[in-house]
Amino acid sequence: MTLSPSRRRFLTLTAGASVAGAAYAKEAPPLPSRPDLAPNALAANQSYWAKIAAQFSVTSAINNLENGYWGIMAQPVMNAYLGHTERVNRENTYYARGALNDDLQKVTNSVADFLKVSSDEIKLVRGASEALQILIGGYHKLNPGDAVLYADLDYSAMKSAMQWLETRRGVEVIKITIPEPARRENVVAAYAQAFDDNPNIRMALVTHVNNWTGLIHPVKEISALARSRGIDVILDSAHALGQIDFDLADFDADFAGFNLHKWIGAPIGCGLIYIRRNRIRDIERFMNEPGDDDDINARAHTGTLNFAAHLTIPDALIFHERIGIREKEARLRYLRNLWVSEARDIPGIDILTPDDPTMVAAMTSFRFKGRVTTEENNAMVKKLVSDHRVFTVRRTGPDAGDCIRVTPALYNNADDMRGLVEALRSLN
Ligand SMILES: Cc1ncc(COP(=O)(O)O)c(C=O)c1O
Repeated sequence: MTLSPSRRRFLTLTAGASVAGAAYAKEAPPLPSRPDLAPNALAANQSYWAKIAAQFSVTSAINNLENGYWGIMAQPVMNAYLGHTERVNRENTYYARGALNDDLQKVTNSVADFLKVSSDEIKLVRGASEALQILIGGYHKLNPGDAVLYADLDYSAMKSAMQWLETRRGVEVIKITIPEPARRENVVAAYAQAFDDNPNIRMALVTHVNNWTGLIHPVKEISALARSRGIDVILDSAHALGQIDFDLADFDADFAGFNLHKWIGAPIGCGLIYIRRNRIRDIERFMNEPGDDDDINARAHTGTLNFAAHLTIPDALIFHERIGIREKEARLRYLRNLWVSEARDIPGIDILTPDDPTMVAAMTSFRFKGRVTTEENNAMVKKLVSDHRVFTVRRTGPDAGDCIRVTPALYNNADDMRGLVEALRSLN
């Protein structure tokens, strides 16, 4: 996803404009210029990526390979955030009741441009949970006798919201299991089968990159299948934006939820709702929020939020653009492949995420054969930390059982991945 020249100009002019005096800012080394290499070749250029890693101020007390929770800010973004925080505090309610609204509208415009949608089709909120709960709960095209569909690899809070539609809307709730090992064809086939078996399905939740195994789901194919049957898709793109290169237009999506605090590297508390303009009225106005039927701002009420976090979004987008989405995705996949290619030889290990580059980027999970309980996986996560200083996270979600997720970030390097493989050998 790239910025148009006009939007790039806007971001350059406005981002960080008020932050020069941030009192707590740490100096970051200058961003290196990008060698003229194809993304996959650049991915292995350790000296370039060491300079990018130096943009992040992060503890070396732990080899942190759990970067799926959220993505820490790079230092230049952090400096901008401190500056915005200082400004909001200094200029106080006079700013908040004055120029702030225009400034936030400019932020919305920059995000809309980034997504290549119109600014009246998005609303900034605090995160993907808020965005998707509003979409799932507010979708009012359902009648008793209809069905909705979700999958075991969807996010927990979204699974609960889908399940809740049984009482809220009186619909049948159907859950499918994404096959293990997942391949493009068997994932698409699982949705096709469910759609064929249940002609009363009216709406489906589809996750773009799932948080349990990091699988990139074939959203384009699933959305096309749904569209051809008149099924609406609500897209959970929390983990995709900024991790992988995609164009929202390719998915023909009417409803989607995102955050910017995972892979875009904005401060925690930045998410957004997308609704295609002609579908806004299909999501209820939020708790009698005033506004007309086609006004996306009537779909959420964020109240007093962390203004400084949202004001920092353009700074985060600039940093993200300087790295480049294709380059970022390739580097993350390169780090992932470093550990997976070696770990596959460890007896008993199952790598749950396929090597197909269209189905994986940074995140991959593993499970030792037969070790499917939360206790067993917690014990392994604990041992990785206590014996090897390697931090990962146990995931409880796939129907086949618990697993452990590994998620490198741009500040990780090849040594971190080697450290992980050594640690994994000790679990065998
Ligand atoms: C697939 C998925 N959807 C939604 C969310 C919720 O995102 P947020 O933290 O922005 O509320 C997450 C968070 O990890 C996620 O992984």
